[in-house]
Amino acid sequence: MSGSMFSGQVCVVTGAAGGIGRATAVAMAKEGARVAILDKNAEGAAETLRLVQGAGGDGIALSCDTTDAESVGTAHAAVVARLGDADILVNNAGVGKFVPLAEVSLEEWNRVIAVNVTGYFICAQAFGRAMLARHRGAIVNISSIGAVHPNSEFGSYSVSKAGASMLTKLLAAEWGPYGVRCNAVLPGMVHTPMTAVNYASEEVLKARSAVVPMRRIGSPEDIAAAVLYLAGPNAAYVTGAELVVDGGLTQNYTRLIPRAGQLS
Ligand SMILES: NC(=O)c1ccc[n+]([C@@H]2O[C@H](COP(=O)([O-])OP(=O)(O)OC[C@H]3O[C@@H](n4cnc5c(N)ncnc54)[C@H](O)[C@@H]3O)[C@@H](O)[C@H]2O)c1
Repeated sequence: MSGSMFSGQVCVVTGAAGGIGRATAVAMAKEGARVAILDKNAEGAAETLRLVQGAGGDGIALSCDTTDAESVGTAHAAVVARLGDADILVNNAGVGKFVPLAEVSLEEWNRVIAVNVTGYFICAQAFGRAMLARHRGAIVNISSIGAVHPNSEFGSYSVSKAGASMLTKLLAAEWGPYGVRCNAVLPGMVHTPMTAVNYASEEVLKARSAVVPMRRIGSPEDIAAAVLYLAGPNAAYVTGAELVVDGGLTQNYTRLIPRAGQLS
């Protein structure tokens, strides 16, 4: 353990079998939180728990489908029994698949909405009720720059993330009077299992890095650091905020417009 910012607190992280969720669970544990690692992928969740323990932390790994209220209810009961009520919820479990709108099936459209929005709502209700009763708690939703900028040929992903961002603001408005904060992180391009296929090629990695002002792809730890800020005491008066963590990518589009003399 390297700090104590979350010492004595219970933090639930969904989709924590890898990527951003895993980095967040480990970072939270290093700051003293006891973490509940929820994921459909039980094996990956168990591996994250080993990493948490290896970092001197404590927690539990639970198999859970965040789109299924019953499954979330079971996980919630296990978290309360083993660790106590959640102080922090990080809604992170997400999916996406490249498919143009003209071709996306209704099933695929609904699947992405179910995980990326409805799952966040189900978990916020399940873990948030005790926060409301105790008048304290923090929720961080992992949204995306795709919530604000259309992520073309990616099915309902951008619509789902816009939904996650609006859910964030609604929760901030409704639950603020009960001492519960809710904020969102909007990552840009991050190297995780979800996006690994793009970074397997040195050429794609270079081309993608070149359009980011910071000239690199984000790491899961870059996003985890933003989550910890929003969940922690330094953000005590921050709620309903959307923190873009994209190395400047979304500030860069006017640079894509050719100027006279640039085209030869
Ligand atoms: N990687 C990026 O470039 C990027 C950019 C913007 C936003 N995001 C968002 O960050 C979050 C984490 O993504 P990641 O890149 O770490 O991807 P990832 O695929 O590594 O992690 C997502 C995790 O969610 C789990 N999951 C999926 N459906 C689930 C369900 N129904 N119930 C429980 N768990 C489920 C998966 O098993 C997986 O472990 C997602 O919400 C994603 O949309 C990622």
